[in-house]
Amino acid sequence: MEKLKARILGTGRSLPEKVLTNADLEKIVDTSDEWITTRTGIKERRIAREDEALSDFAIVAAKNALDMAGIKPEEIDLVLVATVTADMSFPSTGCIVQHKIGATNAAAFDFQAGCTGFIYGLSIANQFIKSGAAKKILLIGGEVLSKITDFQDRTTCVIFGDGCGAVILSAENEEKGILSTSIHSDGSMADFIEMPAGGSRIPASINSVQQRLHFIKMKGNETFKVAVKRIESACRESLEKANLSAENVRWFIPHQANVRIINAVAERLGWPQETLYINIDRVGNTSAGSIPIALDEVVRDGKLKEDDILLFSAFGSGLTWGSAVVRW
Ligand code: COA
Repeated sequence: MEKLKARILGTGRSLPEKVLTNADLEKIVDTSDEWITTRTGIKERRIAREDEALSDFAIVAAKNALDMAGIKPEEIDLVLVATVTADMSFPSTGCIVQHKIGATNAAAFDFQAGCTGFIYGLSIANQFIKSGAAKKILLIGGEVLSKITDFQDRTTCVIFGDGCGAVILSAENEEKGILSTSIHSDGSMADFIEMPAGGSRIPASINSVQQRLHFIKMKGNETFKVAVKRIESACRESLEKANLSAENVRWFIPHQANVRIINAVAERLGWPQETLYINIDRVGNTSAGSIPIALDEVVRDGKLKEDDILLFSAFGSGLTWGSAVVRW
């Protein structure tokens, strides 16, 4: 039991077909390709159609991950979905996915930790596997943020994109898999990134709609200031827990919030550019979808070698932050 590790057996992703470029955004709000590129590193992002919801992407990502893992949906005993843009408040998107992929033996639930959702998910899955409570887990991270993005607000609409990623975690008696996770939160900064209405505090009303309270509100600059330090400390903490140091990291696969944040963290930890995986230029900030999408790209591009050390990190609404170390 002690030696059980949660190993990633398969990965998958699914993104909308529609591309929204910086040039498109120049026609919608007062912004420029130059501002967006230099401040964030984003060139384009994917945007869902009006009739598409999170589960449409989650199902495809899950099936791709199952195919790669070579396991049947009936073998899954837990479906976890990290998101702030579920199909609806309830039932959970986890249950919708569980049914549609035929994971008939699985329990399913959604949870949210903003952009840190996937790291929280790795931590949750790790506990279930180490305790013996689950053997095969489908962990999905994804968002359809365009549905809660205010396309009149240039400070947020240039940042976010839609997309979903998934991994299959399996209990294995090997030295490979999740070596450590570290998760944190500080609700004193809860108003840094929020969607104020639609819950029990401000239920939907004509007023809430007129005041545009069903959209993301973000104090970007304040968030930026705390992000780098917290991400750095979480990375150091998870590496220490895994008895590793920064030099052991082959791939740093961070939440893609802002290329300047990624570079600042890399500089503090002494990682060269070839250690960083960056796809924010093509997909923008997909919150909980960000890391599993990036991971699937790395895996399917054949970039990983056996025993490579991967470090994931994220920071987001809550505020939440965290990091995880995986031996491939
Ligand atoms: N186009 C052009 N100008 C813009 C703009 C846009 N899309 N958005 C904001 N600006 C302007 C601002 O109005 C401000 O103008 P002013 O100086 O005349 O007041 C100026 O650009 C600088 O704004 P600021 O908010 O200080 O920019 P920034 O360098 O902090 O970059 C973010 C903004 C959002 C890109 C950056 O703060 C960020 O990435 N924050 C972290 C977000 C994050 O990690 N969230 C957690 C995960 S979701």
